[in-house]
Amino acid sequence: MRVAVLNGVNLDVVGRRQPELYGGLNIRQLESRIFEWAMELEVNCQCRQTNSEGEYIDWCHEALDWADGVILNPGAWTHYSYAIRDAVELFDVPVVEVHLSNVDEREDWRRISVISDLAATRVIGKGPEGYREALAYLAGSK
Ligand code: DQA
Repeated sequence: MRVAVLNGVNLDVVGRRQPELYGGLNIRQLESRIFEWAMELEVNCQCRQTNSEGEYIDWCHEALDWADGVILNPGAWTHYSYAIRDAVELFDVPVVEVHLSNVDEREDWRRISVISDLAATRVIGKGPEGYREALAYLAGSK
């Protein structure tokens, strides 16, 4: 199984950005954990992060050609980007929405996700572990 893990805006600065909310791992450490979990689950995964919305959308389009499952944490784009929503709508493989923090228990605007109804499941507020849960979900859905 091949999984695309796409982290969006401001996720490059996790580790030094409100660690009480997002945890202490930097993006490289987070991606290493994801690779370790993927290996354990016998999932082939590609992790990418960008602060450019257009690039994020391009990567969604690329993943259409090869991914058997997709894990998306679009960061703040989650809450308002209909352009990303339109790209996510193209997937006919399961999509898991992940957020490090519990977006449902923070500001009102973070409770809105323009992609949640397209996701097979959401994993929120579990820190890095949420990506393991998302991988396990996808590995189980093959
Ligand atoms: C986030 C939650 C978003 O509200 C926020 O803008 C982020 C990170 C999370 O992983 O908890 O950048 O997606």
